[in-house]
Amino acid sequence: MMKITVVGAGNVGATCAHEIARKDLCNEVVLVDVREGVAQGKALDMWQTAPIQGFSTRVVGVGPDGYDKTAGSEVVVITAGLPRKPGMSRDDLISTNAKIVKEVTENIIKYSPDAKIIVVSNPLDVMTYAAFLAAKIPSNRVFGMAGILDTARYKAFIADELGVSPIGIEALLLGGHGDTMVPLPSYTSVSGIPVRQLIAEDRLQAIIKRTQNGGGEIVALQGTSAWYAPGTAAAQMVEAIVRDTKSVYPVCAMLNGEYGMKDIALGVPVVLGKNGIEKIIDLKLTEEEQVLLETSAKAVKNVMTVLDDMKMF
Ligand code: NAI
Ligand code: 2OP
Repeated sequence: MMKITVVGAGNVGATCAHEIARKDLCNEVVLVDVREGVAQGKALDMWQTAPIQGFSTRVVGVGPDGYDKTAGSEVVVITAGLPRKPGMSRDDLISTNAKIVKEVTENIIKYSPDAKIIVVSNPLDVMTYAAFLAAKIPSNRVFGMAGILDTARYKAFIADELGVSPIGIEALLLGGHGDTMVPLPSYTSVSGIPVRQLIAEDRLQAIIKRTQNGGGEIVALQGTSAWYAPGTAAAQMVEAIVRDTKSVYPVCAMLNGEYGMKDIALGVPVVLGKNGIEKIIDLKLTEEEQVLLETSAKAVKNVMTVLDDMKMF
C-alpha cells in the first residue's frame, strides 16, 4: 500500500493533502496535527469530496499521538509550524519552527525510516537543513519546497505582463526562499521565445522584484501567508517522486560542492524521482549570476547561525 503523510493540517498542509488525494497519487494520505481533532476533521471533510471529485485515495487524520498511523510512508511533507504574520520575515519564525521541525522529523523517521521528506515550514532553507540533521538519513531524501512556488509566481507575473497563458512559460530560479532569491531571465522563455525579446529590461526587473517579495505581498493583503500555490507546489514534488517522473524542478537541496558550496541547503535545479533527489544539476552561471547566488547563500548562512546558537543538534 502506498502511503503519504502530511504533517501540519493548517492552510498549506490541508491544501497539499487534498491535492495529493485529488490526483490519486497513493492509497492513503495521513494528515497529522498537534491540535487534537483538526486533522481528523479536515481529513473527514476531504474524504467526503472523493465522491464529488472522483478519487479513491483514503484521507485519514490523526492527532499528536497518532504517528504510528504514518508508518511506512513513502513521502512525508512537513508543513508544521507558525506562518508569517504582517511585519514578520520568514526568518523571525526560526526559534519556534526549528523545535517543531526537529520533533516532527524524529517522529516521522521513527515510523518511516525509508521516507523521502519534503520540508515546507519556514524559514525554508534553514528548516530543510534542520530536518536533514534531525533525520540522519542521506541528503537525497531530505529536501525543501520553495523553488516551484517562487518560479510559479515569476511565471504568473510574466503571463500577466504579456497577457498570455502561463502554460508554456519556462523559467528557473535559484537560491534561498527569501528576498535574495535569484530568478534567472536568461533561463526564462515563453513557448521557446527568450523573455528578453518580449519584455523590456526595466519591466523584467520589476517582475523579479515582485517575485522576490511574492510571499510578503500576500501576507500584507490577507494577514497570513499563502497556501494554494505552496500546497499544490509541494504536491507536485510528491507526484514526481511517487510516479518516478524524473522531472527537473528547482528544489532546496543540501549542497556538497555544487555551485562551489557545502553544508548549506539552497534552491537549485534537481532531477526528482523515486529516490528523491536523483541528481543536482550544477549549472555554469555567469559571474553576475554566481554573485547573486552567493549573496542569497550568505543570507541563508546568517539564519543558520541562529539555528547553530540554539544548540539543538
Ligand atoms: P498554519 O498555521 O495554517 O498551519 C500550521 C499547522 O501546523 C497548524 O495546524 C498547527 O497546529 C500545526 N502544528 C504546529 N506544531 C505542530 C507539531 N509539533 N506537530 C504537528 N502539527 C503542528 O500555517 P500554514 O499557512 O499552513 O504554513 C505552514 C508553514 O509553512 C509555515 O511555517 C509557513 O511559513 C510555511 N510556508 C512555507 C512556504 C514555502 O514556500 N516553503 C509557503 C507557505 C508557507
Ligand atoms: C510564501 O512565500 C511566506 O514562504 C511563504 O508565501
